[in-house]
Amino acid sequence: MADFETLLTETRGNVGLITLNRPKALNALNSTVMRELSEALKAFDSDPSIGAVVLAGSEKAFAAGADIKEMQAVDFVDAFVGDFLGGWEAVAATRKPIVAAVSGYALGGGCELAMMCDFIIASETAKFGQPEITLGVIPGMGGSQRLARAVGKAKAMDLVLTGRMMDAAEAERAGLVARIVAPERLLDEALEAAAKIASFPRAAVLMAKEAVNRADEVTLAEGLRLERRLFQSLFATQDQKEGMSAFVEKRKPSFTNR
Ligand code: CAA
Repeated sequence: MADFETLLTETRGNVGLITLNRPKALNALNSTVMRELSEALKAFDSDPSIGAVVLAGSEKAFAAGADIKEMQAVDFVDAFVGDFLGGWEAVAATRKPIVAAVSGYALGGGCELAMMCDFIIASETAKFGQPEITLGVIPGMGGSQRLARAVGKAKAMDLVLTGRMMDAAEAERAGLVARIVAPERLLDEALEAAAKIASFPRAAVLMAKEAVNRADEVTLAEGLRLERRLFQSLFATQDQKEGMSAFVEKRKPSFTNR
């Protein structure tokens, strides 16, 4: 993969690891990060050897938000006509699962970026918040929508309107975070989760992600219908035969992603 200015990328077996790397700005998300992250995710999404991705920041900050220094001078016409922040949709459009490994600050766009991933594993040090209101704006990368869906209206309103931060324990209780781990375990835990995902049949993994994500979009009846059709379609795969035969024969499955 190409060298990036604001990211580090590597592969660990079947897992793609992307680390946000603007340490002097606490990984503030500028347009270069947006462009490079979209490119890196597209590359991992289309690489057949990769089954899942981990997105991490630094120990101090996953990301402290959209880059305020870059945003400061933007006017309405620039923002509207240029579809400011619209490019971040590429993250949520990634078809392979993305595990967010969050340590330290995940504020504003940082919290929103973590929520674009499929689940969040947080260090005990993680702090989440949507402080945009303190700058005279509101969340612009999905915070008002994804946070409300993740933690419910009461807590989303509390965070978005007061700009306060919540710690990892509160975020886990609220349903924003899937697991909390000790800081020194964070990256390993996220990589292990991603490696586990990558070990399962690719078609089933992509369909599982698609099915769960549809729950936020459609009625229960539509969601159940989609789930059942996707489930039924997996019986056309060789890996379904292999997975079930291996169970019955009490052996480990050998999946081929076919
Ligand atoms: N944008 C640009 N630069 C940022 C930044 C941001 N979001 N967050 C931190 N930085 C920079 C600081 O300006 C500082 O740079 P200098 O050394 O050049 O001054 C450097 O990172 C270190 O930051 P601090 O000195 O402030 O570090 P701290 O430990 O004292 O405080 C913090 C940490 C509480 C996270 C504080 O940096 C902070 O409040 N950051 C801004 C958080 C914020 O408001 N985020 C929302 C942005 S708006 C948004 O995201 C819109 C959206 O919905 C997409």
